[in-house]
Amino acid sequence: MASKPLKYVLFLGTVRENRLGLRVAKFMQNFLLKAGHDVDFMDAQELNLPLLKKPLHFYKNPSEAPPLLVDLGNRIKEADGYVVITGEYNHSIPPALANLLDHFPGSSFSYKPSGIVCYSPGQYGGMRAAIQLRALLGEIGCISVSNIFGLPQTNKSLDEEGKPLNDHMESGAKRLLTQLDWHAHAMRNHREGFGIPGK
Ligand SMILES: Cc1cc2nc3c(=O)[nH]c(=O)nc-3n(C[C@H](O)[C@H](O)[C@H](O)COP(=O)(O)O)c2cc1C
Repeated sequence: MASKPLKYVLFLGTVRENRLGLRVAKFMQNFLLKAGHDVDFMDAQELNLPLLKKPLHFYKNPSEAPPLLVDLGNRIKEADGYVVITGEYNHSIPPALANLLDHFPGSSFSYKPSGIVCYSPGQYGGMRAAIQLRALLGEIGCISVSNIFGLPQTNKSLDEEGKPLNDHMESGAKRLLTQLDWHAHAMRNHREGFGIPGK
């Protein structure tokens, strides 16, 4: 069934020099585009947000909020769903990712689904961080779909341009996207048909 493309925000939340995360983001961006989706890439390194001092929703007068925060907040609100890429720092979510997500109110994300992509040069593929990220995403209202796309040994699975070096990359991404797309379509239809509570 043909329908208008889904809009996804793709979050990347590591900022280290030579980070592996950028390979994963490039791969996912290409994969989403090939699937016909609109992709808005939000990279913590490029955005260079300050450590959280005042999130967007703490400004009593919205006209006093920094224009960058307002712009990002609007783009997050416009999305139909989110793909969130996480590395694993001490079995947890990289601080730059939490910093990025924490700058915006839950109302911007809610009633839309998210999909988690996790990675690590080690054998567990960042899964421990992914499980923690699942709780965070639930709290801000974009509950994550059950499939988690984990990329162990990412340095051997994707080249620097995000080109897959084995067959598992495409099939893993497809499994996640099959679920995510279904939920994103269903939730968009329901938002359009019935609105959302309190609006
Ligand atoms: C502070 C820190 C903590 C880390 N902790 C873990 C860990 O708990 N588990 C793991 O698999 N890798 C861990 N690593 C290795 C990262 O998975 C690896 O450096 C990865 O490339 C990080 O993503 P990035 O390159 O996008 O920053 C850690 C790396 C850093 C910098």
